[in-house]
Amino acid sequence: MTTHASTAAPHRQPVEGRGKAAGRVPGQTHDEASAAIAADETPLLTAHAVSKFYGPRIGCRDVSFELWPGEVLAVVGESGSGKTTLLNCISTRLMPTTGSVTYRLADGGSRELYRMSEAERRMLMRTEWGFVHQNPADGLRMTVSAGGNVGERLMATGARHYGNIRAAATDWLERVEIAEDRIDDQPRAFSGGMRQRLQIARNLVTGPRLIFMDEPTGGLDVSVQARLLDLLRGLVTDLGLAAIVVTHDLAVARLLSHRMMVMKDGHVIETGLTDRVLDDPREAYTQLLVSSILQA
Ligand SMILES: Nc1ncnc2c1ncn2[C@@H]1O[C@H](COP(=O)(O)OP(=O)(O)OP(=O)(O)O)[C@@H](O)[C@H]1O
Ligand SMILES: [Mg+2]
Repeated sequence: MTTHASTAAPHRQPVEGRGKAAGRVPGQTHDEASAAIAADETPLLTAHAVSKFYGPRIGCRDVSFELWPGEVLAVVGESGSGKTTLLNCISTRLMPTTGSVTYRLADGGSRELYRMSEAERRMLMRTEWGFVHQNPADGLRMTVSAGGNVGERLMATGARHYGNIRAAATDWLERVEIAEDRIDDQPRAFSGGMRQRLQIARNLVTGPRLIFMDEPTGGLDVSVQARLLDLLRGLVTDLGLAAIVVTHDLAVARLLSHRMMVMKDGHVIETGLTDRVLDDPREAYTQLLVSSILQA
C-alpha cells in the first residue's frame, strides 16, 4: 500500500485533503510520483444519474456521486429507500434503467461499466472488487472448507501453488480472527459472526481496490456486530480500500465511513462528510433519522 499515503493516516481524513498528502514514496521516480498524484486526483468511480425502475415502481432515481480512492461512502436510509438497488446497480449486479458509471481501472484506464462485456465485468468482480453480502451464505460456498473458500478466490485470479494458497488462506483466517484449526471446517459449522468474517477474508485475499457491502453486520447480534465493525474498520484503513457500505444503522456509518448519502424514496436527499451529516443534519428527514436513532 505505497500509493496512497493519506489513507494510512487517521481514519477520518478530510475529503478535501485527499491527493494532496500523496508525496513521493522512497524509490519512486518523479514521473511515477506525478502519475500517482494524477491518479489520486481522479475519482475511482463516478456515477451519473443512475435510475432503476421495477416496472412502475422506483428502485432508485437520478443518483450521481463520486467515490475517491481509499474513501468509504455509506448509503443510509429507511427500509425500501433504494439502498440495495443502488448498490447492485453500481456493482453491475443489476442493470440500471438509465445512467452511467465510470470506473478507473488499476492500470489507469477508465471504463464505462454498463458497456463492458459480461466477461470483463466478471473479471473485475474477481480481481479489483469485492462484494460482502448481508447473508454470508450468499457470498460463501457453504459446502467447501473455510480454507477452500479463501483459496478459491486466489485461484480464480491465477494462483496455482497449493502451498502458497494454503499459506495465504491461513494468514487471512488469522486476520479475521478465525482459529487456524478451523481451516478445514465448512462454513455451515461456523457461527453467523464467523461466517461473516470468513466472507470478508474471501473478498479481501485478492487485494481488491473497491469493496461493496450490503448491511455487513445486519444479521448479527449487537456484541458480535461491534467486534466485526472494529475488524472491518481496521482492515479497510490498513488496506486503503475504497468502499460503498449500505446500512440502515447510522452507528455503522459513523464508525466506517468518511462520507455518507442519505436516501429516501429512491432519491439521495442529503450528502456530506459523515460527521457533518450526523452532527448537523440539514434535511428534515435526516434530522428525523438521526433523532430516532438517538431515542433508541
Ligand atoms: N426485484 C424487485 N422487483 C420489484 N420491486 C423491487 C425489487 N427490488 C426492490 N424493489 C423495490 O424497490 C424499492 C427499493 O428497494 P431496495 O431493496 O433497494 O431498498 P433498501 O433501501 O435496500 O431496503 P432494506 O433496508 O429493506 O434492504 C422498494 O420499493 C422495493 O419494493
Ligand atoms: Mg437492502
